[in-house]
Order: sequence, then structure tokens, then C-alpha cells
Amino acid sequence: MKLLVAGGCGFIGSHFIEYFLKTYPKAHITNLDCLTYAAHPDMPAHLARLDPNRYCFVPKDISDPMLKSWVKEFKFDAIVNFAAETHVDRSILDPDSFVRTNVMGVQNLLAVAREGGNIRFVHVSTDEVYGSLKPTDAPSVEASALDPNSPYAASKAAADLIALASSRTYKQPVLITRCTNNYGPYQFPEKLLPLLIANALENKSVPVYGDGLQVRDWIYVVDHCRGIDAVLQKGKSGEVYNISACGEAPNITVIKKVLDLLGKPHSLISFVGDRPAHDRRYGLDSTKIRTELGWKPLVSFEEGLKTTVDWYLQNVEWWKKVRGSDYQKYYQANYDQKFVVKNANKSEVNS
Ligand code: TYD
Repeated sequence: MKLLVAGGCGFIGSHFIEYFLKTYPKAHITNLDCLTYAAHPDMPAHLARLDPNRYCFVPKDISDPMLKSWVKEFKFDAIVNFAAETHVDRSILDPDSFVRTNVMGVQNLLAVAREGGNIRFVHVSTDEVYGSLKPTDAPSVEASALDPNSPYAASKAAADLIALASSRTYKQPVLITRCTNNYGPYQFPEKLLPLLIANALENKSVPVYGDGLQVRDWIYVVDHCRGIDAVLQKGKSGEVYNISACGEAPNITVIKKVLDLLGKPHSLISFVGDRPAHDRRYGLDSTKIRTELGWKPLVSFEEGLKTTVDWYLQNVEWWKKVRGSDYQKYYQANYDQKFVVKNANKSEVNS
């Protein structure tokens, strides 16, 4: 298979490339990535080392209007799109870049796939498009209404609808995956788990938004990649597939677990102001992909967390490199002002 992966220098995309090259010894991958801040500067070299004969990197943006003629030449069997702005906090501060990449970029890539010979297109989306669940709600299914609350989630929901409309209007072979919160090695330290691990290792406080009782549904990144692969190989065109390991847990529980694994005190926890329109709970029902495509997660939360924590312990240089001056500037200029540190005594949840 000749695969075009868009956004392969990001966290999930890079794991997918590694998984795919290892799983399919005859596969060839072209990785299209415009290297935003979220791509680690060492990632292109890391991926190139996996198998230089079956992998190539093309530094291009999915919004590039010249992509159409370029893709036509290569005759790809399929496209998997990971390229996206993904951090909710950044989407609150700069929604424009989310609409540019996540909506306009996907629109362009869909057109590229059509003109390149109606190439099979797997679009990687998120559980956040369903919005927030109440504690007693059943987990979201593929037919649940889209009800996004953040600019990030809204941009992903818009792209999902454009992709589905393309499938119906142009008979384009488009498939959508919606997954829960991923964790694992190589995640950029702005998302909860890597930020928490990196801060704790530097004995810095760990910011917990609001009361810390928001629930996220966690999955180890390689299990997600296997789910995308199942959809790519066996999924039905025009369909959406939820991917979940049924790993719902309140943030504060996860944070304490990680601090315990690191041998760090819970006193590092610092409750800060809440994220605006912060979704209270995500949870996905993944019966469809399990029954129709035979996928199931293989890595337990305990095992995955241990692997992740060990990786951050062994790769201090990797994450320190991206916590340099740009990263500090971003957090000082934007983040601290938006989510004002409360220093409230939350001993009832912090005990
Ligand atoms: P995040 O990793 O940003 O993923 P998402 O918001 O897309 O689910 O955040 C996961 C949860 O952790 C979310 O409820 C927000 C919360 N959170 C904190 O409490 N502190 C933090 O510093 C971050 C980054 C997130």
C-alpha cells in the first residue's frame, strides 16, 4: 500500500507511521507535514530513521493549493489525515488558526483526494465533537448529535460534516474515526498528561482546572493507531467509527496516579481557574468498531501509563527541548492571564 499520511510529525500521526511501517513490511508512506510548533524538531529525523526506503517526508501544508497537482503524480492508495490544531486552550486564544487548518485545510485535502483519483480518505476526528455528557448519560454513539463547545471541537465537527457531505455528494470514499483522549510517548507537553509529568519531574506545580472532577476517556495511542488501521483496511465508506478503550476517569484521579508513579507529592497539585466552557465529561461507545471490524484495545491504562511515564523519565532531553523560550513565552503571555491561579484550598478533593 502507498499511503499519504497528513500531519505525521504530530503525536498520533507519528505513532501511526511507526506502527504502520512495522506492521506492513511492504507499505510505503509519504508524510506531509508543515511542522507547526506541535511537531518536535527531532521528529522528521526520528521517522526517517525507521525505514528510509519506505518512508519519505514532504514539508507541505494541507491547505496548500498546489497539493492537487502534486498528489496526482504519486497515485496513492489512501490518505489518512491527522493534520490539525488540537489544543483546546490554544483554540480559545487563537480560533482563526483552527478554522484555517481544521476546516479549510481538510476541505482542500478532500478536494486533493477527489482529483487524485477518488483516493480512499480516513479523517481522524475526536470525541469532543459530541460535546459534554452529563454524569448519568450513556457514552456517545456515532449517531449522537454533534454539540461542540470549544472552537477546537467546533472546527473538528465542521470538518466531519464537510467530509461526510463529500462522501454523499461526490461518492467520495471517506471514513471518519472519532477517538477519546490519547496518551503515550512523544506527546507535546501542553496536554494534561505530558504537562503533568514534565512539571512534576521539574518539581513545578501541576495546574488543575476548576475542581478537577472533569471526566476524560483515556486510550493508549498505539491502540488508537490500530483502530485507524482497522477502519482504513475494513471500514465502510461514508461511515463514522468511535474508538474508545472505555477508560473514563476524573482528571484528579489520573493526576494523583501519575504523581504516585513518579514518586512526587500531591502537594504539587495547584487548583487554578477553569477553562471557559470546559466540557465536564467525555465518554465514547465503541461497540461499532469492535463488532463490525473486530478491533479492541490491547493496552490497559495501568500498563500504558507506566510505559508513558518511563518514556518521559528516559527522554528528558526530548521534552526539555520544546519547553524552551517560545513555549515559556506562550504560557506567560496568554495562559496565565486566562486561567488565573486561584490558590484556593480544595482540600476536599485534594485529600
Ligand atoms: P487536555 O489534555 O487539554 O485535553 P482535552 O481538553 O482535549 O480533553 O485536557 C484534559 C483534561 O485536563 C481537561 O479536562 C482539561 C484538564 N487540564 C487541566 O486540568 N490542567 C492542565 O494543565 C491541562 C492542560 C488540562
